Amino acid sequence: MGVYNFDQQIDRRHSDSIKWTFYPEGVLPAWVADMDFPAANEVIAAIKTRADHGVFGYAFDSPDLRALIVERLARWYGWTIQPSEILFLPGLVPAIHLMCMMFGKAGDQVLIHTPVYPPFLHAPHLFEQSAKAIPLIEQVEGQRLSYTIDFEQTEAAITPQTKFMLISHPHNPIGRSFTPEELRKLGAICERHGVIMVSDEIHCDLMLDGHQHTPFAAVCETWREHTITMMAPSKSFNLAGLGCSFLIIQNPQLHQEIMKTAFGLLPLVNVMGFTAAAAAYQHGQAWLDELLPYLARNRDLVCEYIETHLPMLRVTRPEATYLAWIDARGLGVDDPYQFFLNEAKVGLGNGQDFGAPGYVRLNFGCPQDTLLEILERMRTAIQQRSSEVG
Ligand SMILES: Cc1ncc(COP(=O)(O)O)c(C=O)c1O
Repeated sequence: MGVYNFDQQIDRRHSDSIKWTFYPEGVLPAWVADMDFPAANEVIAAIKTRADHGVFGYAFDSPDLRALIVERLARWYGWTIQPSEILFLPGLVPAIHLMCMMFGKAGDQVLIHTPVYPPFLHAPHLFEQSAKAIPLIEQVEGQRLSYTIDFEQTEAAITPQTKFMLISHPHNPIGRSFTPEELRKLGAICERHGVIMVSDEIHCDLMLDGHQHTPFAAVCETWREHTITMMAPSKSFNLAGLGCSFLIIQNPQLHQEIMKTAFGLLPLVNVMGFTAAAAAYQHGQAWLDELLPYLARNRDLVCEYIETHLPMLRVTRPEATYLAWIDARGLGVDDPYQFFLNEAKVGLGNGQDFGAPGYVRLNFGCPQDTLLEILERMRTAIQQRSSEVG
């Protein structure tokens, strides 16, 4: 028996949660990527201690936090970085926009692999750029979905207007953690065409079944100069509302340029964000070590439930993240997302937003009872529809 009880139900509907207040009362939300679990005790304690201090002026990150990150990346990912290569920002979505703004001009393009986290698709447009989407290659085996990168199409899509490649690694929503070999191929493509790599590794600590994460920048020394890595404790330790993320930029000139531009556009990270991040990296591993098997069991529950009761759906078996990606086109409804929202009262992620209409994303970062209720509601709605149609 561990210290943490992830089965505990916490009422978030009557808190400030976006996840729980976006849909009307009665809808079970399984969309936006935060989990329904309280943070590690040490993180909560550190926030309380910081609050007791009572003065909340502008804050710098502490050398201790930088040292914790350096140590963590070396220990878990075999990646050596310098403390000065870290740049803290209040969010990675603003960072994606910043990259578009800094690296491209109107008419340029950002290379992405779809389906993908919606801001990857939308951010370039804000700067009159395009998101050049290379579909991941989908394999279907029974009801199991899996994906690989189409390297040929990736390389063929590069033009002089391609300023950077933006990857989600591990990938949201398909839950793949790319292998060093796959990363090497992507890196070689970027190198051949002088394209910058922006590697969004926000989900990297959420590796299931002992899968190993390899940071893109750790694969080849020469690529570090042309890589921006994005990380945060927010997904791993469920601290998304505290807004503390960071970039690792190992090219000093690029680091300076990004830092100066970010300083003019983005607020500093807030004191509680820094406090929580430091506590999570220093003391949170035990919490994470208990969480990951719980998430793996939830992932298995989703896969087994769908295989047993919902033969018209196909689903990934994520190696990382708490997100399952479901092909619901076999339901035969125009809009599966709306169907599950209206008929099952379950709020899933809408595949259309990820560039894949007919698919939905299910967030299984919740107590098992809630997850079971979500799946049962989906099953009942599908059964009801089949009895009406057939
Ligand atoms: C791939 C990816 N990048 C970035 C974010 C958001 O990052 P932030 O909260 O730091 O803006 C998310 C959140 O779901 C995500 O899945």
